[in-house]
Amino acid sequence: MKKAVWLCPPLMAALAAWIFTLLGFTPWTAVLIALLLVCPGIIFYGIVRVFRHPRGFSPETIHTRGMPLDLLAPIYDRYCPIIGLGRAFRLETLRHAGLRAGEYILDIGCGTGVLTRLAAHDVGPAGRVTGIDPAAKMIGIAKKNGLAEGSRAEFIPGVAEHLDFEDNRFDCVLSSAMLHHLPPDLKIKCLSEALRVLKPGGRLVLVDVDRPSNTAWWIVLWPLLFWSFTEGQVKGRIKEMMINAGFSSAERVGGWGGLLGFWKAFK
Ligand SMILES: C[S@@+](CC[C@H](N)C(=O)[O-])C[C@H]1O[C@@H](n2cnc3c(N)ncnc32)[C@H](O)[C@@H]1O
Repeated sequence: MKKAVWLCPPLMAALAAWIFTLLGFTPWTAVLIALLLVCPGIIFYGIVRVFRHPRGFSPETIHTRGMPLDLLAPIYDRYCPIIGLGRAFRLETLRHAGLRAGEYILDIGCGTGVLTRLAAHDVGPAGRVTGIDPAAKMIGIAKKNGLAEGSRAEFIPGVAEHLDFEDNRFDCVLSSAMLHHLPPDLKIKCLSEALRVLKPGGRLVLVDVDRPSNTAWWIVLWPLLFWSFTEGQVKGRIKEMMINAGFSSAERVGGWGGLLGFWKAFK
């Protein structure tokens, strides 16, 4: 029923165009008038939806000043491999994490849970892997895919800036392509929260937008310098953020595609 709502504007436009042709207008004029009548309605409807549920259309999505990806959720798993974030990227992330059987893992901003499910495989039945994300549609897809694959990973709605877990719970916290979805103050909050829920000696493995590695990327990506969500990262400040959040050490351990950096920080 919800999906049928999107059929209304084209049907109304077609109906209006047909009525105007009956009234004697030429077909092109009738279509033009119909579009002029229907388009403001569509724009108004869109604005109301976006203001009621900022950055997404799912009312269940948890409120955050970050950027939940509800809108991309249905195509996310097809889109990632196209932009170079396929299986090889996930395996490289896990290589840096070096997960061991029996470990407790948290994946912050897990999206559709591809990495989370691979991590659950690595830690085996004695381990425990939890993925959190504010976007209801992402969590919905992650749960559905997890069920289909028989994965032990669990997925719960949650936000990076306030982790609903007790102190010292996890051996490793993963964060893949999530940090650039947060404004500067929430990045620090998220890193402090990751530190809090890590066991002493635990590790954070984070991969995200980083200082571009060559001039070609700078030419393409300089606009990111003017967006507060990415500015600090493209200026190469991830290490500073991690140390400011309280991590005892933070190192860049690799890169991906000239734009993403792999970071490993210890509590
Ligand atoms: C680019 S996706 C990455 C998803 C997944 N980690 C991956 O590697 O495919 C970024 C994710 O961060 C989530 N996100 C946005 N704001 C967040 C917040 N405040 N806390 C946690 N996750 C957030 C989005 O909903 C989205 O699923």
